[in-house]
Amino acid sequence: MRRLVAENRLGVDDLIWPLFVVDGDNVRQPVDSMPGVMRYSVDQVAGAVSEARDLGIPAIALFPYTDAALKTPDGREGCNPENLVCRAVRAVKSACTDIGVICDVALDPYNSDGHDGLVQGGRILNDETLEILCQQAVVQAEAGCDIQAPSDMMDGRIGVIRRALDDAGFQDSIIMSYAAKYASGFYAPFRDAVGSGGALAGDKKTYQMDPANSDEAIHEVALDIAEGADMVMVKPGLPYLDIVHRVKSTFGLPTYAYHVSGEYAMLQAAAQNGWLEYDKTMMEILTSFKRAGADGILTYCALDAARLLNNQ
Ligand code: PBG
Repeated sequence: MRRLVAENRLGVDDLIWPLFVVDGDNVRQPVDSMPGVMRYSVDQVAGAVSEARDLGIPAIALFPYTDAALKTPDGREGCNPENLVCRAVRAVKSACTDIGVICDVALDPYNSDGHDGLVQGGRILNDETLEILCQQAVVQAEAGCDIQAPSDMMDGRIGVIRRALDDAGFQDSIIMSYAAKYASGFYAPFRDAVGSGGALAGDKKTYQMDPANSDEAIHEVALDIAEGADMVMVKPGLPYLDIVHRVKSTFGLPTYAYHVSGEYAMLQAAAQNGWLEYDKTMMEILTSFKRAGADGILTYCALDAARLLNNQ
């Protein structure tokens, strides 16, 4: 009877698994602040992704832990076709063709300031950043990445990235915009995982959104859709379910929520202490994204959730 009247249902098709890649051979390195999460070397990443594919997960998102020696003020490593994330994309794509690959478009893994854009004299250079983001998106598409996910929050980026992809022959490349991305404390474990936290000078409040604002999210999403975004994302997840709901009901476009690193860390920490039951709480959280209107969820719990869903 409960199944008959259930209004929302979480499925494996709703899950996107974000994972971290690192240089080296035969490396599976745990991330301290994210129990259960690893950084994989390129030779290991295809195996991990095949596991996700076998569980039925439709897409993954790759994030590089970039060696500090490769970070420069202009973030040029992001445009290197042989950079870590491009090598990882190629490894994944040659091992499994039937899973979507998403890559961030932003300079934070490559920029010695830890910021998503270029910085000069403590200020973000919006328009100068756009050019590099376009090159980064094209290089990633050339490596085989299916979905470009601009997470940088520079103004006007979606339009120029769309044109750059089209001009390079990637008309079929999809853009999933991190459209409503808040300046959040919940990203701290992620910055540890990709090694950008130590470098970060100041904060990201001049380009990421104020947690107090909701109308502004609608404005940001409208701009990105007008510029050509195919899918939009709200981030973080749980503290912003109202935004997920507003975005989905206003625009009706495919809308995703990012259940971010800090949210994952909180759940894991409580579970490890025996204060929360991991499986039960995780499924409740993931279902709440569906109830709010999300078409999919980026979550570090993706494999755990898929295993549970497949055993039901
Ligand atoms: C980088 C980026 C961040 C996340 C995804 N892409 C961090 C940030 O903006 O500082 C966060 C993801 C997470 O916390 O799980 N542009």
